[in-house]
Amino acid sequence: MDRGTTSRQLTVARTRRSSPRSRSCYGRLRRVEATQLSGDVTEILVTKEQLANRITELAAEVDRDYEGKELLLVGVLNGAVMVMADLSRALNMHCRMDWMAVSSYGSGSKSSGVVRILKDLSTDVTGMHVLLVEDIIDTGLTLSYLVSNLRSRRPASLRVLTVFRKPEAARNPVEISYVGFDIPNEFVVGYGLDYDGLYRNLTSVGALSPSVYT
Ligand code: PRP
Repeated sequence: MDRGTTSRQLTVARTRRSSPRSRSCYGRLRRVEATQLSGDVTEILVTKEQLANRITELAAEVDRDYEGKELLLVGVLNGAVMVMADLSRALNMHCRMDWMAVSSYGSGSKSSGVVRILKDLSTDVTGMHVLLVEDIIDTGLTLSYLVSNLRSRRPASLRVLTVFRKPEAARNPVEISYVGFDIPNEFVVGYGLDYDGLYRNLTSVGALSPSVYT
């Protein structure tokens, strides 16, 4: 699909996890403005406006689906900070918010599916309606672990919302109830997505120039 369109079927991808910090990367940091895509981003894939509109649509679905229920949003740090902030404020219902931080063991840019919990929930989710909120589902391995882990705590219900989903996630059996954008396999940053911890605060999502990470 033409990534220049406004479709939510945009396919993106990104590199994930850490790469060796490089001096060139930090050199480029000086040219990045927090609210604008810089020359480090070769193509805007999803604009700030598209993100805002889609989050509003997803919030309306969540409002409808959870009507009359007590909702707990569980954000997966760090990338889900942006969507948690925007989604929660777009809701017309009460919600509680909690956070998990996980680390996925892997080599290079691929995760292994072996996940370690760095920060667990503060909430006992037993009997609660839990909506797990992610910025991106890449291989789906982290999600598989998280869903399995949370299910074992016996919530009343457990659903998943992600802003972005990459093609490989389709091979994962975990159901994702709410998807913002299906994106292609490119190295994307912004709206919570990082490269080496940077670029999360870009308001649009774009493809990172290979010159930054090669
Ligand atoms: C991202 C994202 C998911 C995970 C998805 O987190 O937030 O948790 O990767 O990848 P997977 O589908 O291949 O398992 P990341 O580990 O990059 O940490 P971050 O949110 O702090 O950037």
